[in-house]
Amino acid sequence: MSSNNLITLNRWVLSDTHKDIGFKLELANLLSGIALACKITNNGIKRAGFEQNFGLAGITNVHSEDVKKLDIVANDAFKMALKSTREVFCMVSEEEDSIIPVPESQSGNFVVTFDPLDGSSNLDCNVSVGSIFAIWPKASTDHSFSNADVLRKGREMIAAGYALYGSATMLVLTLGQGVYGFTLDNSIGEFVLTHVEMRIKSKGNIYSINEGNSIYWDKATSEYVNAIKSGSNGRSPYSSRYIGSMVSDVHRTLLYGGIFMYPADSKSPNGKLRYLYEVGPLSFIMEQAGGKSSNGSTPCLDIVPNSIHQRVPVFMGSHDCVTELESFHQQHK
Ligand code: AHG
Ligand code: MN
Ligand code: MN
Ligand code: MN
Repeated sequence: MSSNNLITLNRWVLSDTHKDIGFKLELANLLSGIALACKITNNGIKRAGFEQNFGLAGITNVHSEDVKKLDIVANDAFKMALKSTREVFCMVSEEEDSIIPVPESQSGNFVVTFDPLDGSSNLDCNVSVGSIFAIWPKASTDHSFSNADVLRKGREMIAAGYALYGSATMLVLTLGQGVYGFTLDNSIGEFVLTHVEMRIKSKGNIYSINEGNSIYWDKATSEYVNAIKSGSNGRSPYSSRYIGSMVSDVHRTLLYGGIFMYPADSKSPNGKLRYLYEVGPLSFIMEQAGGKSSNGSTPCLDIVPNSIHQRVPVFMGSHDCVTELESFHQQHK
């Protein structure tokens, strides 16, 4: 991308790239709020060593996780930046027990669900982490929000994406017309378009799962993982890569192909990852890039969550890999 054709996030949303995209102005405003929250979060991570912001905040969240100081920095940044766009009707955050209201004076027409800091167990050892978001049109016709506004089928999302705070800081997103990547140029403080129409390979030979849980896996998962490790599925044995932050593992899967898995098992009967702000948005990205995302039998985007923090099993990545995984689940129905 030469400097004489610098396409910033805002210009890209407003440009003619998406002639017929709905809510163009509102999305540009919302995404500028999300980009601001990601820059604040990125800055907080990079400066944590100077500002004693590593480590625990001394509280646990609704998932009984030990909340990190930077989880709170990121959560506050997302709530502030989104409210100030005046486009948001209500929000759901991993770090908040219930739906987050927006004062009527600042209320808008969109619902935003977000994981302000994903993979936070990796923070103190400087391994890449991310943020995840999804944007939905509000459902209710008046100012009082209800579960009907947030417990939505994934296919009702109008936009989704993630920030990856890695060797470079990226924002990867979809407005429902392909997947685009923006890299933070610190010299101008802008996310600049660097990855156009990102597509995932239909086949891949990298598998990503926490093998430390293998004694808890069901037969379908165990047999599938054994098949791809031994090459008994007719392919050469896959490589294993597991970073432990979903955004990093999914971003690598998107770029290199393969399959990311967080299955249900006897320890986590619904898996670990939450639908509204982890599985849903990243499934939208994966499908828009030509990949697949399933709970083992059903496309994740066809799921309607029954609670704001509902967990779902997830297998996402290259189309043929996920299809093969589903065939193992089919055999054990
Ligand atoms: P979060 O930090 O937002 O709570 O998410 C952590 C998630 C996800 O990022 C990752 O894929 C998964 O936890 C890793 O879980 P295990 O450590 O059980 O493998
Ligand atoms: Mn967490
Ligand atoms: Mn997460
Ligand atoms: Mn998180």
